[in-house]
Amino acid sequence: MSQRSPSRRHPISDREVFKMAHSARNPADSIPPVIVESDLMKRGGFEVFEGLIGTNTRNEMLSEALALLPDATDCEVQIPDGEEGRGGMPRRRFANARGGTLQQAFNTAQWLLDFLRGLTNPALIYTGEVGTYSYYLRAGDHLDIHRDIVTCDVAVITCLYDDTPVDQDGGRLCLYPERYLEPLSMIRGRPEQGGVKIRLDIGQTIVMYGGIIPHALLPLAEGQTRIVSVLCFKAL
Ligand SMILES: [Fe+2]
Repeated sequence: MSQRSPSRRHPISDREVFKMAHSARNPADSIPPVIVESDLMKRGGFEVFEGLIGTNTRNEMLSEALALLPDATDCEVQIPDGEEGRGGMPRRRFANARGGTLQQAFNTAQWLLDFLRGLTNPALIYTGEVGTYSYYLRAGDHLDIHRDIVTCDVAVITCLYDDTPVDQDGGRLCLYPERYLEPLSMIRGRPEQGGVKIRLDIGQTIVMYGGIIPHALLPLAEGQTRIVSVLCFKAL
């Protein structure tokens, strides 16, 4: 199931794990040892999986996402708020819709909860909130470097559609697993340093500590389209 993703190239060393647990300047320094010592953190804070949902379900979820598109909300922030830790208002432009019945069945499935608990924290819980679909439909649609909001410690993002050419960066996730100690302004100031670009192919799911590992969605080029399912879980 595991793709043995590029995260393997960026394991977090014991020294880094110690720093993470003890550094006073770490924006995420309240992370409990159970997270620091979890399987997912030791893989670099994220992992890409193939086939977490079957092809039929994925196609049905894409149909659901397209059916909900007319109700989607445009999310555009041109002037960011300068948040250094989690949440805030990072620069962004894409559309977002509340998930439907099919996605909610995935969101609340016991097998998914068990799977995520094995990767992260045995006490991980479903947030009680519905998931969302994100639509990157126009050239330049993106989401700038951020950490996820406090109710979203673990993000589960499944690609339902992406026609981005494999040799282009547009539409790729860019994660900074080695810069998790830094305030966001430092990463935004030197975004080329330490970025791990992940192309999430159709049917692949990334599980990541979105509240810990800074990440971005790189701007789409002309003619590209990307639709993903986004779920959030509480692990801290
Ligand atoms: Fe995020």
